[in-house]
Amino acid sequence: MNWTADQTIEALRGAGEPTRLRVLALLAGDELSVMELSHILDQSQPRVSRHLKLMTEAGLIERFPDGARVYYRLSSDPTARRLVDTVLDLLDDRSSEQDHRRLDEVRRDREAAAEAYFEQVAPQWDRIRSLYVCESAVEAAIERAAGPGPFERLVDLGTGSGRMLTLLGGRARMAVGLDLSQNMLNIARAKVAQAGVGKVELRHGDIFATRLPSQSADLVLVHQVLHYLADPATAINEAARLVMPGGKLLIIDFARHDLEELREEHQHRRLGFTDAEINGWLADAGLRASAPIALPPDKDGLTVLIWTAVRPADAKRSVA
Ligand SMILES: C[S@@+](CC[C@H](N)C(=O)[O-])C[C@H]1O[C@@H](n2cnc3c(N)ncnc32)[C@H](O)[C@@H]1O
Repeated sequence: MNWTADQTIEALRGAGEPTRLRVLALLAGDELSVMELSHILDQSQPRVSRHLKLMTEAGLIERFPDGARVYYRLSSDPTARRLVDTVLDLLDDRSSEQDHRRLDEVRRDREAAAEAYFEQVAPQWDRIRSLYVCESAVEAAIERAAGPGPFERLVDLGTGSGRMLTLLGGRARMAVGLDLSQNMLNIARAKVAQAGVGKVELRHGDIFATRLPSQSADLVLVHQVLHYLADPATAINEAARLVMPGGKLLIIDFARHDLEELREEHQHRRLGFTDAEINGWLADAGLRASAPIALPPDKDGLTVLIWTAVRPADAKRSVA
């Protein structure tokens, strides 16, 4: 949808200042906090905050809180994005060498913090992993369920350390990983870069309200996320909303189990799911599911289930 003349003028005014152009160029590369921007731009936080407020009001960027910090990113409004891309395309050099260097410093600091965090939680994950069939068997089954592609747009909801993106991102022209935790996104950024997967956008966001366009993805993944959520039905509905006609949604989670310890020790909200539960939610969301693939544990433990659901190719296409 296009903007009115007043909105366009306000947005152009919002961008029309040297520091603000630098901010737009930086946010085109990454989501950044006020503190990080202040370090990169070498300007005081109040000064940077004033610029950010103006640009937010002009609809060019958006702010979102994450724990104790507030981050900024380019607006997800398609018209605002077109305007920002056009403005940045006009510049012969999008950002100065110093801005580049300092953005890299910020990324390295984040990676160091993320690694420390990962080391702290990794032993807990290893305990859970030891309860089910080996990871490689699950991943091989996911690869088969996804199919060879190529996919136009893959969306991985609750991407965590980005494992699904490194596993399947190479089959997609464009991939988006979304997670609520900046720490996890930082790990994902590092892993995706190491794996050399191109065209991946890592976005901070909530699976319950992704703000991604409807029916825009031909492969959507929700891998080991649902059991952490208070309202899995709503998450499935949101994931399904993103699936385009002919596209598919893969849900990978545990079958119903009775390991109560996982609630206390690992913050699981749900002790797995029954096929009927997931199927009902998928049907309510307008998708057609096939029987799940079951990967039982070698001995006592957790069964991993992979549900594949498609939006029929003749389904009505909705506008985002
Ligand atoms: C066990 S990890 C699974 C990560 C990943 N899918 C994988 O394949 O390894 C669960 C992830 O879900 C994310 N998460 C939890 N609640 C979320 C929400 N409401 N919206 C988005 N991500 C969420 C967590 O931050 C975490 O990274």
